[in-house]
This record gives sequence, structure tokens and C-alpha cells, in this order.
Amino acid sequence: MALVREITPSVIWVGAIDWDRRLFDALIPLPNGTSYNSYLIRGSQGTALIDAVDITKMDVLIGNLNALGIKKLDYIISQHAEQDHSGGIQKLAKLYPKATIVASGKCKELLVAFNLVSEDRVMEVVDSQKISLGDKTLEFIHAPWVHWPDTIFTNLPEEKILFTCDFLGSHLATSDLYAMDEATVCESAKRYYAEIMMPFRQNIRKHLDRIKDLRFDLIAPSHGPLYSHPNFILEAYRDWSSENVKNQLILPYVSMHGATKAMVDYFVDAAIARGISVRQFDLARTDIGELAEALVDAATLVIGSSTVLAGAHPLALYAAILTNALRPKTKFVSVIGSYGWGGKMVEQIAGTIPNLKVQLLNPVVAKGYPKASDFQALDRLADEILAMHKELKIA
Ligand SMILES: Cc1cc2nc3c(=O)[nH]c(=O)nc-3n(C[C@H](O)[C@H](O)[C@H](O)COP(=O)(O)O)c2cc1C
Ligand SMILES: [Fe+2]
Ligand SMILES: [Fe+2]
Repeated sequence: MALVREITPSVIWVGAIDWDRRLFDALIPLPNGTSYNSYLIRGSQGTALIDAVDITKMDVLIGNLNALGIKKLDYIISQHAEQDHSGGIQKLAKLYPKATIVASGKCKELLVAFNLVSEDRVMEVVDSQKISLGDKTLEFIHAPWVHWPDTIFTNLPEEKILFTCDFLGSHLATSDLYAMDEATVCESAKRYYAEIMMPFRQNIRKHLDRIKDLRFDLIAPSHGPLYSHPNFILEAYRDWSSENVKNQLILPYVSMHGATKAMVDYFVDAAIARGISVRQFDLARTDIGELAEALVDAATLVIGSSTVLAGAHPLALYAAILTNALRPKTKFVSVIGSYGWGGKMVEQIAGTIPNLKVQLLNPVVAKGYPKASDFQALDRLADEILAMHKELKIA
């Protein structure tokens, strides 16, 4: 059965909900699935489709367009060349041979590079360029580095709708077309922000400033529910992308035989006793999306690792590599862990996070199972973290 949902008489959701997808980019866990939103805009003199869907869901999009009796598309707007939105463009270009594909210059280059369309089918649009569909106007806003260099937003002033592709979106399969349960949507959106947008904080702030003066009532991202009351998500993005950190300690760790774990347990209690909020993540089991989300606000990161084959445990290094790539606004970093005879566990972790503009606090490393002196050292580290947080006036 086709599922099409009317947003206004001229704007129809024709996307696909991917309830079962559990992994994205071979990296990001999707505990709640996702959706690929695609929007049909019918003007008095033309019809446009904003974004396609993932190739695996093209039958759904085509079924939806057929159900609406769409025989002709004048424009297919590719807001972003990534395959979850543009993977199906090749098929659409064949089905609608008269359609002009509209994209930024960078997006055009990438669509061609990924063999999704031939160059002659794409019309490149510059920032603020408009296309008229008669009684409806599409206005394109260049928004590079939502996470790729190619993204555009599409403003539809007559309907007061702003289409934002990945920006403000959430990986959330739900029957709600609009964000009803704001807490759930906000959490999914935060996770998504953390996983792909956090490294581009300054650009995210620019995009927030750029759209401030547009008069929209509705924000329509290309993943997750739409925002009929967009203030909460805009405010959340402002906070996440600001340089403000919170009195939080994030503690991803790995422990093979319990020594590092004993240090983590002690250290978590020491932090709580000092009024610092803590989240610990056992890297052998954790969902790295949760870790990424936790890193959005935290002032301090402490990585816990055993020493393995002369270095850090590979799972601790994985967490460090990921954190380095995500560039959270974390201000302080330290390492705790255990060794048996020697190795460069701390040096290896510290050498893995050159992108983080952080102050490194003295590590605490125990020989074997931690002793009283190691616990005292953990107390000192907790004191130091508290003092740093007080200096930032967050504790
Ligand atoms: C597979 C393996 C490799 C290890 N390699 C090293 C090493 O190269 N250098 C070292 O000092 N200790 C090494 N150890 C010892 C551990 O670092 C030590 O037992 C530590 O206390 C483990 O902490 P955990 O209980 O938190 O895993 C190794 C242990 C294992 C199981
Ligand atoms: Fe994307
Ligand atoms: Fe996407």
C-alpha cells in the first residue's frame, strides 16, 4: 500500500519509513530505524520533488508517486548527494526523463562521481537562486558542511516551509509525521547531530543564523518527524553547537579482567560525590551513538583502558579515534587504566586525539589491580576535574 501524507494541499510527504534499518554508514547504530523524507511540491505551473530516498526504498517512493498519479516531474531537487537521499536519483531520472535535477555545484560533482546522474541532467543553483513553479517558489540556500560540502536547504515561502535535509533531522522511524513527543525526537536528533554534525559546529551555527530571518512555520528535514513548532529543535541546536560545556564527565572504558573496571567504579563514585554528573560506557558492549551523544555537552572525558600488547586496548583506541573525528567541545581529557609489565597505553591514547583542543590532566595508571595509592590518585584526579569545572563556573 502506498503511504502519502498531505502537509498542505500543495506539499505532500511521499518518503519511506525504514523501520528495520539498524546500521548507517557501516558505523552508526540506528536503534530506532530511520526515515527518508521526500516531498512533492505541486505548483500551478510545475511539480518538484525534494530529495529521493535510499536505493533500498525506491519502490516505496515510486509507488507513492504512482498512487498520486504523478506522470511528470519538472524538477528533482537533490539537496545532498549522499546515497540515503540521492541513491534513488538514477532511477527517478530514467522514470522522469524530462525532469531537471537541481543541485549545488558540489552536489552535482558528487552525484556524477557516484554515477547517480549524468552531468547534462543537472542544473546547478547558486545561493539564493529561485525556481518558480507558478504560484510556488523554491528558494535554495547553500548550507555546506552540515556534514558534506554539498548541502542546500530549500525554502518554500508561499507555504512557510523550510526543507533542511540532514540538518535538524533525526534517525527515527515513527508513524508521527510531526514531532509530537519532543523529548524523544530531541534525543534522536541530538544523537544524529553528535554522529555527523558535531565536527562542523561553526558551520552549524552559521546555518542557524542564516535561517533566522526566513519566515517559516514548519521545518521539514529529510530524516525523522517534521517540526510544526520548530523552536525547541532550533534552541537545542543552538545549545549543542555553542561552546558551552556542562559539569559532566564521560567515561568510556574497557577492562579485560576487572582491574580498570575497579578503577572506573571508584572514580565514578568519586565524581558523583563531588557533584559532577557522570556517564560511563563499557566499550565492549556500548552503542557508540550513545557515547557520541554524551560527548555533545560534557566538559571532561576520561578514557579507561587496560594495557594490551604494549599499547592501549583496541576498543579504547577506537573510542579515541572516534572522539578525535567528532571533535566534541570537551575541555579536559585524562586516561586511567592498568598494566602488568609495561607499555605505552597512555601515550597511544593521548597521541590519538590531536584534534581536541583540550588540557590533558595527569593520568592514573595502576600496576595490576588498583591499590590504596591508586585510589588516592583517582581522588586527586576527581578533585582536579572539579577545580577545572569550578574555574569554568559550571560546578
Ligand atoms: C592479551 C593481553 C595482553 C597484554 N599485554 C600487556 C602488555 O603488553 N603490557 C602490559 O603491561 N600488560 C599487558 N597485559 C596485562 C594487563 O595490562 C593487566 O593484566 C591489566 O591489569 C589488565 O587490566 P584489566 O583487568 O582492566 O583488563 C596484557 C594482558 C592481556 C590479557
Ligand atoms: Fe548525509
Ligand atoms: Fe541523510
